[in-house]
Amino acid sequence: MCGIVGYVGDNNVYDILIKGLHRLEYRGYDSAGIALANPSGKINIYKSQGKVSNLEDFCKDKNLEAKSGIAHTRWATHGEPSDNNAHPHFSEDGNLALVHNGTIENYQVIKDALIEQGCTFQSETDTEVLVQLIEYIKIKNNCNLLDAVREALKQVVGAYAIAVIEKDNPDRIIAARNSSPLAVGIGDNETFLASDATPFIEYTKDAVYLKDGEIAIIEKGEPLKIVTLENKESKVDITTLEMSISQLEKGGYDHFMLKEIFEQPTTLRDCIRGRVINNGCNIMLSGVMDSKEKFLNAKRIVIVACGTSWHAALLGKYLIQDNCKIPVEVEYASEFRYSNPILDERDIVIAISQSGETADTLAAVKIAKDMGAYVYGISNVVGSSIPRETHSGTYIHVGPEIGVASTKAFTGQVMVLTLLSLSIAQIKKTMPYEKICELGKAIIKIPSIVQRVLKLNDKIEKLSMKYTYAKNFLYLGRGYSYPVALEGALKLKEISYIHAEGYPAAEMKHGPIALIDAEMPSVIIAPMDHVYEKIVSNVQQVKARGGSIIAIVNEGDEIISKMADHVLEVPEMPECLTPIITSIPLQLLSYYIAINKGKDVDMPRNLAKSVTVE
Ligand code: AGP
Ligand code: GLU
Repeated sequence: MCGIVGYVGDNNVYDILIKGLHRLEYRGYDSAGIALANPSGKINIYKSQGKVSNLEDFCKDKNLEAKSGIAHTRWATHGEPSDNNAHPHFSEDGNLALVHNGTIENYQVIKDALIEQGCTFQSETDTEVLVQLIEYIKIKNNCNLLDAVREALKQVVGAYAIAVIEKDNPDRIIAARNSSPLAVGIGDNETFLASDATPFIEYTKDAVYLKDGEIAIIEKGEPLKIVTLENKESKVDITTLEMSISQLEKGGYDHFMLKEIFEQPTTLRDCIRGRVINNGCNIMLSGVMDSKEKFLNAKRIVIVACGTSWHAALLGKYLIQDNCKIPVEVEYASEFRYSNPILDERDIVIAISQSGETADTLAAVKIAKDMGAYVYGISNVVGSSIPRETHSGTYIHVGPEIGVASTKAFTGQVMVLTLLSLSIAQIKKTMPYEKICELGKAIIKIPSIVQRVLKLNDKIEKLSMKYTYAKNFLYLGRGYSYPVALEGALKLKEISYIHAEGYPAAEMKHGPIALIDAEMPSVIIAPMDHVYEKIVSNVQQVKARGGSIIAIVNEGDEIISKMADHVLEVPEMPECLTPIITSIPLQLLSYYIAINKGKDVDMPRNLAKSVTVE
């Protein structure tokens, strides 16, 4: 959600900042802006509602000379998306320019106090309050910018990542974070700042991830310095990035989403690598081994997540309960945090988040830790907040996911949950060795099976034409296929804006069945599992009401195939491994329906990749 880029060095800052903003576009935004610190002692701010390309058009005839600057993509929380509300914001005397990601909860109180002091405001944002407050403190206390920033942040309640530049010190950026991500890239005589490493990966592999409560002083010709709000110097911890620039490009595909769907054989192989050994008979996650005693003694596991990660969490419940015999509860992180949860040191809380930055999930992690639970993180982004806040955990290792609609991260999360359940089963001895070997061998085959399933691409593209103008969709599944149905429905609504609902197939008759008619297609996920016979009756119930059916079944299926209007066959797998396989055709179906409707699948309206506000 929103993005920050900053640069101090000898190169043309405008090009670096604009390229950086393009790299952050996937996070979701509604306006963009840039502040350039001109060496003549002037800060030029240019901003524009809409895409970064609008900002580029706007900047064409402007003075772009500068060697340092900050830039921003805004996802409006306070005040409509407009040129005026876009960041950066000037302080009243024009000496400071600031960009901000997040929200300032007590902005109104501060704003009222500043207005009383004679301060005037140009925008409706909470952000402008912060820059005015910093300027006010700087003048009142006659202090330098760093001290004013420290003081201002002590007065602020909320989540933020900020970057500030000053007219009189054009070669310096002061940046700070609390609950919103910020990374510093250290190059040769140049330093980068960004919400994640994607804007600077092509210039340097050395990154420093700021922690909550830290302030970075980025100054030309000086080593990076990090201090706390109390002005205590912090250690500069440099991480070597593993990401490569090719991962951030479309690689010949029309969209990132399609590329990411097709990458899944590789990403699943990367996710499994080194974790399923001994010909499938030894399944070990190092995070589980590090926390062996905790998992052996756990009385309950609570999984917290949002959106697609929550669907993976539901699958985690089936996997852990079936394989490890530990009771599992699944909670929306946003509900969990305000539900007065009851937890103690024998509870394990698993937080699942692709981005590792989702505000609700991060808050749930902090609450769980405070209550004494052991907290385990499952994330994709190395160095992000959730892995740093949790006691231990596992990365899904699927590479950067740029498409806002999660695809390869979902299958990576499900794979990690599968491995996690089998690692625990192995140490708790809740499953016979032979069964673990059988599943381990099947897991090794998953990447090549996914490759086969992707051959359905052309058939699904053709099929999608028939359903482009459907107004509603039902997705039905039972057991392990129920969370797959929820995820299939979410994918469709996110990118095609068609209303879609996922339901446990048997629950359909308790209400949603009223919706079924010839205009309402149902997608039914029905692999050969222990509830197959049951779902056959649900298919009949849909059929009897004239609804058309797209069925995902196993190769050779004879019963449902005859009843369905369209059949997509996937290879048969052991039951607990089916979700990864059956979710692939659903990803492709939603992609093609959205493309047929001319939608922007990589950046769907109103959505953000990383939701860093409540
Ligand atoms: C997925 O397609 C969505 N864009 C969204 O539901 C997402 O899964 C959710 O916001 C959680 O994100 P996270 O995994 O980064 O925490
Ligand atoms: N709350 C700020 C605003 O509405 C920043 C939003 C963002 O994170 O982009 O301007």
